[in-house]
Amino acid sequence: MTIAVRYYTRSGNTKKLADAVASAVSAESKDITCPLDEKVDILFLGCSYYAFDVDEAVKKFIIENKDNIGKIVCIGTSAMMRSMKKPVRKVADAVGVTVADEEFHCRGEFAKIHKGRPNEKDLAGVSAFAKSVVDQEG
Ligand SMILES: Cc1cc2nc3c(=O)[nH]c(=O)nc-3n(C[C@H](O)[C@H](O)[C@H](O)COP(=O)(O)O)c2cc1C
Repeated sequence: MTIAVRYYTRSGNTKKLADAVASAVSAESKDITCPLDEKVDILFLGCSYYAFDVDEAVKKFIIENKDNIGKIVCIGTSAMMRSMKKPVRKVADAVGVTVADEEFHCRGEFAKIHKGRPNEKDLAGVSAFAKSVVDQEG
C-alpha cells in the first residue's frame, strides 16, 4: 500500500499532526508545494480553516494531483470548526476524488485560545488514528 502525507500550514499547528502521522506510518511529511509523483492509496491531507474555508493552495493541490490520489484522509487543527471534510469534499467531489468518512481533528492554537494545541495527547491521538486507518486498509 502506498501512503503520502501532505500538509498546508500557516503557524505550524497542522504540520505537527502531519509529522506525527508520517512517523506513525513510516511515510514522509511534506508540504503541499510537493506534488505527488506516484499514485497513492491513501493521502493524509493536513489542512485547517482560515476565514471559513481551506486555503486556495489546498484546493489547487487536490485538483492538480487528482489522478494520483486514491483516497484523502483529512487531518486538521481548526480552532473553532471540528471537521475539514466539508470544504475538502467540495473540491474533491468535483474532480472525482474520494474523501474518507474517518478523519482526525483536534484544536489548534489560535490567537489566545487553545494554547499549546496540538499537544502531546493530540499527537498520540493522531498517530493511533493513522495506524488504524492503515491497518484497516490491510
Ligand atoms: C487568518 C486566520 C483565520 C482563521 N479562521 C478560522 C475559521 O474560520 N475557523 C476556524 O475554526 N479556525 C480558524 N482559524 C484558526 C486556525 O484554523 C487554527 O489556528 C489552525 O490550527 C491553524 O493551523 P496552522 O498553524 O497549521 O496554520 C483561523 C486562523 C487564522 C490565522
